[in-house]
Amino acid sequence: MRFDIGRFVDRMVAGTHLYLCGPGGFMAAVSEALAARPDIVLHREYFTAPDSGQDAGEPFTLALAQSGTELVVAAGQSILEVLQAHGIDCATSCEEGICGTCLTRVLAGEIEHRDHFLSAGERASGDRMLICVSRGKANARLVLDL
Ligand code: FES
Repeated sequence: MRFDIGRFVDRMVAGTHLYLCGPGGFMAAVSEALAARPDIVLHREYFTAPDSGQDAGEPFTLALAQSGTELVVAAGQSILEVLQAHGIDCATSCEEGICGTCLTRVLAGEIEHRDHFLSAGERASGDRMLICVSRGKANARLVLDL
């Protein structure tokens, strides 16, 4: 008997936390089925980051609210790399957007999420990001609570 993802998702109670781990195709299918259910909190655990085939991105400005520092993140650079290059210590682990260790509060600016950790609802809130892989949108001014 084949697993009916649609039926499984339809029967979930609002507010449920679903912890998902397994083969890439299975995880993609369940994640896709849950896209229309922002009331479900999805936690995905990957063993390695899936190949997202994303480009180097565009440059954007990074503003650090606590210090008043402004930095430029070039195409192909991560926010984490820029912060570390300026001696700013950040908690990290996987550096692939899958563990959530580098989660950082965003105060303003448009985020280009590239992680495999945040739920659709968390992304939509626009108030947090994973700085090891996610970026600001092209020419954006992204303000972090750092
Ligand atoms: S260090 Fe793991 S998500 Fe950024």
